[in-house]
Amino acid sequence: MTKTTISVIKADVGSLPGHIEAPEQLIQVCDEHLNKAVEDGIINDYYLTRCGDDIEFIMTHFKGVDNKEVHKLAWDGFKKAADKAKELKLYGAGQDLLKDSFSGNVKGMGPGVAEMEFEERGSDPIIVFCADKTEPAAFNLPMYKIFADAFNTAGLVIDPNCHEGFTFEVHDIKKGKKIMINTPEEVYDLLSLIGTTPTYVVKRVFRKSDKEIAAVVCTEKLSHIAGKYVGKDDPVAIVRCQSGFPAVGEVLEPFTFPHLVAGFMRGSHRGPLMPVSEADAVIGRFDGPPRIIALGFQVCNGKLVGPKDLFADISFDNARQKANDISDYMRRHGPFEPHRLSAEELEYSTLPDIVEKMKDRFKDI
Ligand code: 13P
Ligand code: 13P
Ligand code: MG
Ligand code: MG
Repeated sequence: MTKTTISVIKADVGSLPGHIEAPEQLIQVCDEHLNKAVEDGIINDYYLTRCGDDIEFIMTHFKGVDNKEVHKLAWDGFKKAADKAKELKLYGAGQDLLKDSFSGNVKGMGPGVAEMEFEERGSDPIIVFCADKTEPAAFNLPMYKIFADAFNTAGLVIDPNCHEGFTFEVHDIKKGKKIMINTPEEVYDLLSLIGTTPTYVVKRVFRKSDKEIAAVVCTEKLSHIAGKYVGKDDPVAIVRCQSGFPAVGEVLEPFTFPHLVAGFMRGSHRGPLMPVSEADAVIGRFDGPPRIIALGFQVCNGKLVGPKDLFADISFDNARQKANDISDYMRRHGPFEPHRLSAEELEYSTLPDIVEKMKDRFKDI
């Protein structure tokens, strides 16, 4: 049977004002590009969205993951939007397009990618998450809760098809290594790694009983590609739901807790991850707080039915209120840790220059 592929490819190619929002003019360029790609038969279907200054192409096709034609399509679309952004002198025009020409796969070129291929079930609900002003490790805590915490996911206890647990593929993004960790039996080992952000990130999750793909996160680190800070690695993720996977509500539940993530202002501060509707996915105070949207689709014969804007629901109001309160509290720390990132994690810093400038004034204690 033909397998369906969901490819979410995203990039920040310019915004206004500053890093706040990818404007309508860029969305229009991308929409025309993707529309034509459907007509040309490169993809079956798409949904275009934005979260803050990042534009996301949510695409379906039958060509498998890492398909050159689909990646080139995304690259060309972002290129066209970047050209428009340059014409309008938007901020950070072409920010995430780090290479001059396409070389077969957008990985390592700047855009972020989350893709999965599966044989469609009788009914196949998925949720696509898109975040801004944060990094891939922001998904570590929610992925743990969705797939390994029975206090979050009732299905781990009561659904016979979830009960065996899930396998986490964890990447060490500094060393470029990966490891498979089984839950529930290795939960403490898993937590000891993925609690250490941003070194260890959850890349994929599989159902242990049949190795069926359950979730994928984009883990591209821009600074590792560019060799310097060029913007935060605002991530996307795809999660499959129901009938042997966590239910939609179990997948959303972790986001009622606005946990602290890196990426607030200049990619250099921690703030709470605020769940918002598509309409509210516009970055506000202090280039934050970090935001996330959740779009629910049914996958149907290689096409997307939906989306439902899942965080638009009033049941996330308390989380938003909490995120605002936490932002107030964190902001009061100003340049002090833990609001500001540690010296090793800082995307850019004056510290080495200051230590150098003042080195002769340091005396023995
Ligand atoms: P499924 O077993 O079909 O996933 O249903 C569980 C459910 O949705 C209850 O909330
Ligand atoms: P982006 O990574 O979303 O472009 O934000 C960069 C930044 O430094 C915002 O303060
Ligand atoms: Mg930007
Ligand atoms: Mg961004």
